[in-house]
Amino acid sequence: MSPNATNRKVLVTGGAGYIGSHACVALCDAGYQPVIYDNLCNASRHVPARIAEVAGVPVDFVQGDIRDADGLRGVFREFEPCAVIHFAGLKSVGESVREPGRYQDNNVGGTHVLLRSMDEAGVRTLVFSSSATVYGDPDVVPITESAPVRTTNPYGQTKLDIECLLGELYEASPDWGIACLRYFNPVGAHPGGRMGEDPSGIPNNLMPFIAQVAVGRRERLQVFGGDWPTPDGTGVRDYIHVMDLVEGHVAMLRLLERGPGLHHINLGTGRGVSVLELVRAFEAASGRSVPYDIVARRPGDIAECWADPTLARSRLGWRASRDLAEMCADAWRWQHLNPQGYGD
Ligand code: NAD
Ligand code: WQD
Repeated sequence: MSPNATNRKVLVTGGAGYIGSHACVALCDAGYQPVIYDNLCNASRHVPARIAEVAGVPVDFVQGDIRDADGLRGVFREFEPCAVIHFAGLKSVGESVREPGRYQDNNVGGTHVLLRSMDEAGVRTLVFSSSATVYGDPDVVPITESAPVRTTNPYGQTKLDIECLLGELYEASPDWGIACLRYFNPVGAHPGGRMGEDPSGIPNNLMPFIAQVAVGRRERLQVFGGDWPTPDGTGVRDYIHVMDLVEGHVAMLRLLERGPGLHHINLGTGRGVSVLELVRAFEAASGRSVPYDIVARRPGDIAECWADPTLARSRLGWRASRDLAEMCADAWRWQHLNPQGYGD
């Protein structure tokens, strides 16, 4: 990281997206100055202003693509960030199966360009959004970072490819500080109700789908499988509040400020929650009912997946502190105050 202790600018690729926008607020709260770089392919143009409103400080935003080397060069020159948090990427598993080339080009190709631009600009601190998807269908739960990694779909392959690229980069240039943060299932929203997850079209993920049923935008939830080898027969995941998740990024940045290194760290709570448990928690938080039907399993799904979060605790001094009730309450506040999301 830059030796200049007064430089607190952090380039946030994908900073207008769901997790990136919350990260920008957490960065501001921690005294950093985020510079958002996002092509808005999956984000609302209203988000940067909303971040500034919630954070209470102006926030720089540049609309641009991580595959555009000139665009990135201009941003590094103008803002001189000391570090990069790299959220930009396409994230739909189903879409990646239909368009694997587009996922490789955007996610892996884009990361190549970003890394070259960082190198040119002399910025050698990077936090990357990886995913528990790199563990595939795990042999054992909870999952530790030493569990084998494997591909289950083209989206997951892009995360593995980027982790591999970053490993090779660190081996060649050990003066870099690199973190691959493997997220479990981020849910919830900023507690103020002004920012949250705003998927376009039909939500792929469980929590936003439940929230849209509760608010009346969709009729019923389909529960994908009631015959999994889990306590109630539905899939079990490690849902983590997005504010906890982004605070983990701030903790990671602080560690990288102390010196170079290569880190692979799970960000999860360590607790598995079933689909039906989440439905019940959401009903309790919202006071609305969430009608559902149990239907066939979704192809490619797994029974259960939750983190061993011990390494994050020992290395970062960070742990998730918000419980399921808070995740649902915050998701609900965002959903019912903004039934159409950001509204574009
Ligand atoms: P998101 O789609 O809301 O945010 C990604 C942002 O990146 C969007 O704003 C999009 O416009 C932008 N973007 C995409 N391609 C770009 C490009 N070529 N140039 C510039 N901007 C580009 O997704 P999210 O849920 O906030 O996820 C952020 C990151 O975390 C992604 O890399 C995702 O793969 C990873 N992740 C997400 C989850 C999850 O469940 N949400 C879980 C694990 C990992
Ligand atoms: C959770 C549970 C479903 C929707 C995906 C990606 C993963 C990661 C996070 C980025 C499962 C069930 C869901 C619905 C349901 N993304 N479900 N009805 O599958 O754990 O992970 O998002 O890295 O890569 O694969 O999350 O929210 O889609 O599903 O019953 O309408 O909810 O079967 O058990 P998942 P999810």
